[in-house]
Amino acid sequence: MGFLEWRDDFRIGIPEVDHEHRQLIGLINSLHGRLVGPGQGAGIGEFLGELHAQISAHFALEETVMRSRRYAEFADHKQDHERLLDEIREIMDGYELHGRYDARTLSDALDTWFGEHFRTRDARLHAALATAGD
Ligand SMILES: [Fe+2]
Ligand SMILES: [Fe+2]
Repeated sequence: MGFLEWRDDFRIGIPEVDHEHRQLIGLINSLHGRLVGPGQGAGIGEFLGELHAQISAHFALEETVMRSRRYAEFADHKQDHERLLDEIREIMDGYELHGRYDARTLSDALDTWFGEHFRTRDARLHAALATAGD
């Protein structure tokens, strides 16, 4: 079982977007598998840094599209991206300062956030782009 499980309700019904989101989840799982071995914390700091970087890269891509299309919900959508990045940043700080890291808490937070964000903001964004003839 992976760190994060792809769930059917992550799907927004647009194949390219679902594919990209699936890839992101797969990437997070492989990072976790590679860097955080069972019972050892050697790669946790690196894992958290890479996790933050990969998620940021996905968000940056969406934000570029939103900006170039002058998407009306840009500010709200970007704010939600930042909310997750802040949460990960807090977990990174907790690990750096106190060596505190709970994989379960992190994977639950990501699961909840992805489930919500994909279904709402990402789905609305891609519906709007499709209507705009793209
Ligand atoms: Fe997305
Ligand atoms: Fe998004």
